[in-house]
Amino acid sequence: MIKELPNIAVLGATGVVGREILKVLTENNTPYKSIKFLASARSAGSKIEFKGQEYTVIETTPEVFDGIDIVLASAGGSTSLKYAPEAAKRGCVFIDNSSAFRMEKDVPLVIAGVNDEDLRKHNGIIANPNCSTSQLMLVLKPLHDYAKIKRMIVSTYQAVSGAGLKAINELKESTPVILSGGKYEPVAFKKQIAFNVIPQIDSFVENGYTKEEMKVTNETRKILHLEPDTPISCTAVRVPVFNGHSEAVTIQFEKELTPEKARELLENAWGVEVVDNPDEYEYPTPALASGKNPVYAGRIRKDIALDNAISLFCVADNLRIGAALNTVRLAEKVIEMGLY
Ligand code: A2P
Repeated sequence: MIKELPNIAVLGATGVVGREILKVLTENNTPYKSIKFLASARSAGSKIEFKGQEYTVIETTPEVFDGIDIVLASAGGSTSLKYAPEAAKRGCVFIDNSSAFRMEKDVPLVIAGVNDEDLRKHNGIIANPNCSTSQLMLVLKPLHDYAKIKRMIVSTYQAVSGAGLKAINELKESTPVILSGGKYEPVAFKKQIAFNVIPQIDSFVENGYTKEEMKVTNETRKILHLEPDTPISCTAVRVPVFNGHSEAVTIQFEKELTPEKARELLENAWGVEVVDNPDEYEYPTPALASGKNPVYAGRIRKDIALDNAISLFCVADNLRIGAALNTVRLAEKVIEMGLY
């Protein structure tokens, strides 16, 4: 039996990721029966233009989820904690961008095209991984399927767009001030972001890592169904780039994997584009990836510090694959698989 198309709602429609979700819904022509735009009381009543039509933003309350089948949510952890269980209780599938439910046992953590089958286990909430984890998964999946990951070391170079509108504005405003020798008191970040890099994203935890770094460790293990103690170490760094996260990754494998084979696997991988011709200065950069859907992989080489390991550099639009694009793709999978 073919299901009726879903009634969908975008929660956090007025935010940076919410607006990107609207763009992706338009580009993908995602099918739905009806659509609603939800935010806080602050922007309730304001107007949103979507596919040539004007919609009024609705204040989020538990009752607003009655009659909705799928929620695409990007309104922060506390909003998700408050509304996801309410939405699920009312029969919605709540696709959540926040970290609130990612590590819950009965909440699938999914990158479309990587572990779609996990969606079948949902109980009303589906979690979208952290942006740094997300782009890595599309690159790691084909390599792991072939050679099995043994350990991994990642360093991230993360754009300010991942920290929201205030952070984007701080980079914009502080750059000319510092360039002309002035002083700028940081607000969105703990340190100056213009002409600087900051080795802290989110707060520190007991083991000396940050929450952002531990998300990469824990979420990677969950999505790829690795052993719970597979060694994965991440250093997450904020850099003065507007959009597009970069990651330097070293992966050690159980089985032999040559750089040539890794390149071939990635060339054939869904959602990945290989840009790897160093002689011609061709490798991925955030400027290349921003506004695009693929994860770009390059600098693929045999690592010289670890046995049977590959080092590579991957870059993606963090607002897209790291947030809005995967959220929309997950909604499309839920529709395709009839899981609403
Ligand atoms: P609003 O515009 O009404 O504040 P960003 O991360 O870019 O700041 O976006 C956050 C998004 O989450 C915005 O759409 C914001 O709506 C929404 N939001 C924040 N708090 C709540 C809340 N308590 N209930 C519903 N939506 C919220």
